[in-house]
Amino acid sequence: MTITEKTKILTIIGARPQIIKAAALSRAIKKKFQKDIQEVIVHTGQHYDENMSKVFFDELNIPPPDHNLNVGSGGHGKQTALMIAGIEEILLKEKPACIVLYGDTNSTLAGAIAASKIQVPIIHIEAGLRSFNKSMPEEINRIMCDHVSTLLFSPTRSGYDNLLKGGFVENNPPPYTFDNPKIYHSGDVMYDNSLYFSTLAEQKTSILKDSNLLESKFILATIHRNNNTDEPLRLNAIFSAMNKIATESKIKIVLPIHPRTSKLLEKNLSAELYKTIKTNEYIKIIPPVSFLEMIALEKNATLVMTDSGGVQKEAFFFQKPCIIFRSETEWIELVNCGAAKIVDADEIKILEAFDYFSTAQNLKFTNLFGDGKAAEFICTEILKYIK
Ligand code: UD1
Ligand code: UDP
Repeated sequence: MTITEKTKILTIIGARPQIIKAAALSRAIKKKFQKDIQEVIVHTGQHYDENMSKVFFDELNIPPPDHNLNVGSGGHGKQTALMIAGIEEILLKEKPACIVLYGDTNSTLAGAIAASKIQVPIIHIEAGLRSFNKSMPEEINRIMCDHVSTLLFSPTRSGYDNLLKGGFVENNPPPYTFDNPKIYHSGDVMYDNSLYFSTLAEQKTSILKDSNLLESKFILATIHRNNNTDEPLRLNAIFSAMNKIATESKIKIVLPIHPRTSKLLEKNLSAELYKTIKTNEYIKIIPPVSFLEMIALEKNATLVMTDSGGVQKEAFFFQKPCIIFRSETEWIELVNCGAAKIVDADEIKILEAFDYFSTAQNLKFTNLFGDGKAAEFICTEILKYIK
């Protein structure tokens, strides 16, 4: 009898959205690939508060990390450097067949640098996305990661096309290597997750009841992008618009606040606006919520306002219009089909977009993100091509 060895993959997670994304692959492995794939999970520790990290492992049934680098917060250079050193050591010890990287954070970049230098094949999930704005740290991270990856899984057609425009080729024969990478339009693992957890969200959480939202209309908002939180003019414009919307429409705005924003709100808002926001009965700022709680909020909100990549898309999955506090988006199809509007941090544009979506009829939410089985597809392709 021959004993076939499992393919060992080493998954890097660090920031909140990566932990959530990783749930889809871990679930697919458990369901269909347990005999073939062994997953080793490395948490860089980029996010570390209980409600930014542990809550997701518990709720989404993600195996606890095999390694935690506990790097914590810091400037880009130091944070990334600590991660690179830690990941390299683990790669040398674990000797995986490949490394799996998600998205565009500093944890993604660190994994890409560490693995490429010692020739561990890189699987990039969420490849090809571009904002075409290199002042975003994420744009640098995603471009660098794509260009050292061996299998690149793009969630959208536009991401796949960006790769083609960026010099990647299609229909190239295997073997796939650093110098002969393979690109895919795979669908989105976050669509897998949103479908999977959608029903459970309302069954297992009481956020709507606890926040007194069962009877009333509400808007869900999140803000955490560094150019919004760190630039007082932008932060004031966004909060001033939200204050006007909440006060005039008497629709509650619920804002689960990212720790970055929480730490900068008082410092970067004018004293007057800060006080107004804090005392406005229609603005409810709450601590970060769990993923199931977030889905319950997304499903029941009338409108979403955000600068988050993930939240933009989830608004679309749950057929809610979305106002995007950015000057561009990587998820351009949301805007192209009319379900989302880019308003930057421009108070007038925010108010106009709110008015528009308050009366807009027949918005289209066609399925653009796959069949809910992207993670299974990714596992199959890894097994096919990574030895
Ligand atoms: C990071 C990602 C961003 C992603 C976001 C998801 C980079 C460059 N940015 O941004 O792409 O959209 O995660 O949420 O990787 N903090 C805490 N507790 C925590 C985590 C962070 O208090 O558990 C505070 C610290 O003050 C920290 C700040 O938030 O300095 C920013 O955290 P960091 O991970 O550097 O960047 P994010 O803004 O979270
Ligand atoms: N999210 C969450 N709780 C919150 C805010 C967000 O679970 O309080 C989830 C959200 O549903 C999405 C992901 O976190 O799946 C998005 O993360 P974030 O906005 O931090 O980062 P981005 O997607 O912009 O990189």
